[in-house]
Amino acid sequence: MKRYNTLLFGVLALFLMASCGSRQSGDSSASADSLASADVVEVTDLATLTEDLTLDDTDEDVQVFTMKIGNDPERSHLTVSFPFTKYEFINERERNLSQQFIDEFRAEVAQLSQESTATLDYNQHFEVKYRGDSFIVFLYTRSTSRGNNYDDSSYASIFDLEHRRVVSIADLFVDEDAFEGFASEMRAAASEAVRLRLMQSKDFGSEHERQTVWVEMQSGIEEGTLAVDANYDALFFDHEGNWYVTFDKYQIASGSMGTFTVPVPSWVVRRYVHPDILRRLGRSLEPDAPQEIADLEKPEEAARPLTDDDSSASRVALTFDDGPSVYTPRLLDILKQEGVKATFFVLGKSAAVQKQTMKRMVEEGHNIGNHSYDHKNFAKISVEEARRQIGRTDEIVGEVAGQRPSYFRFPYGAYTQDKLTLVNRPIMGWSVDPLDWKYKDADRVALEMSKAGPNAIVLAHDIHKTTIEAIPQVIRNLKAKGYRIVTLDELFAGRTLKNNQVYSSGK
Ligand code: NI
Repeated sequence: MKRYNTLLFGVLALFLMASCGSRQSGDSSASADSLASADVVEVTDLATLTEDLTLDDTDEDVQVFTMKIGNDPERSHLTVSFPFTKYEFINERERNLSQQFIDEFRAEVAQLSQESTATLDYNQHFEVKYRGDSFIVFLYTRSTSRGNNYDDSSYASIFDLEHRRVVSIADLFVDEDAFEGFASEMRAAASEAVRLRLMQSKDFGSEHERQTVWVEMQSGIEEGTLAVDANYDALFFDHEGNWYVTFDKYQIASGSMGTFTVPVPSWVVRRYVHPDILRRLGRSLEPDAPQEIADLEKPEEAARPLTDDDSSASRVALTFDDGPSVYTPRLLDILKQEGVKATFFVLGKSAAVQKQTMKRMVEEGHNIGNHSYDHKNFAKISVEEARRQIGRTDEIVGEVAGQRPSYFRFPYGAYTQDKLTLVNRPIMGWSVDPLDWKYKDADRVALEMSKAGPNAIVLAHDIHKTTIEAIPQVIRNLKAKGYRIVTLDELFAGRTLKNNQVYSSGK
């Protein structure tokens, strides 16, 4: 796949230029966007993007690297997050897996160029399921959409920290027989999970119909649970010592029944999983206990900007979306140094990984907004899924930062009317968009952000190194113009905001 990249990129660039050209004029937001659309798919690969990035022992040990291609809901786009750690062997493998996903996206966009009406949405995010002295486990979900609805698939990465390598299925079992025995028990457990979901379904006219479907499903369950690596690519364990297998949509049941995460019975774990793994896991199962959070400094009263009392000064709010990421701690350092408060629209999934970063945001006086769980396009998902996206993020932020986010911002700013009422708090848009996901040039981003007028809400993304590099200039420019840089709380101070209403500036 890799050697075709240059060719694919060429085709993709042509496709994007062609699709911009055919876009109806009159959409003002699109015009600025179209100018340099070929930039959207710059051929930067992940290895280049991450080459000068390192974490040392004082850093939070698992952080999020997020990369995007495109940010327009009307066009094909991709968001990929993967873990960045202080272990280079982990970073390298996860980066390569993610690169494959990006290459698949590029190939599919190139194929689609014939029928340019279709838009692709590729999404990859991860959770940290286990972090101990011996192992670290990530569970990824990849979601792809070719129109409405997303298809999800999961896979797990298990790393052996002592031997510095990835743990394969072959490493998890003593021999092929043990894997066969395990798969056979999982077939029984998966079958029971499918049967229960079928029993609860209200889609059947009669019991006979239900029974017929159940009989027809047997071969699918059999095939989806055979002892082959691909069927168990989402086998993982968590901090409680529980093991699970996630079976993707269509793997063991019809697509409408969704995915199944089936617990592995503990006796099955004890009988079939390699004793060395269990011994080492047992020995290190205590780190269960949440990792010590480094002493956080108390918010500094003295750090308040001198201009603070000057309430007549024009105000501007800086907002940062799609984090926290591996670059966010650096941004927090800059803001602290400059005595500036901002607002962070975080993804629930990334917030759960970078807990220390989240705590810092609160401790240092920034606002936190909810930007969904994993950045799905709300125009494409169901009401139930939208509710789950908002609710899970509220829970995670509440848990790690001690407060429910007071604002919401839709990923890509995209929504349908039926999603508005779910938000249950003010919704934030923006009035200045520096297109920092496209122009990876700190000077240019700084120039665009500095164009903000009074009461502007400036959009930026704390997942791009170049954006972080732009911020000292932005702060300098805005202060020179006499602006006070404030949080959304301050921008709207003294006003009563309506729930479920979209605000794109403080006017
Ligand atoms: Ni976003």
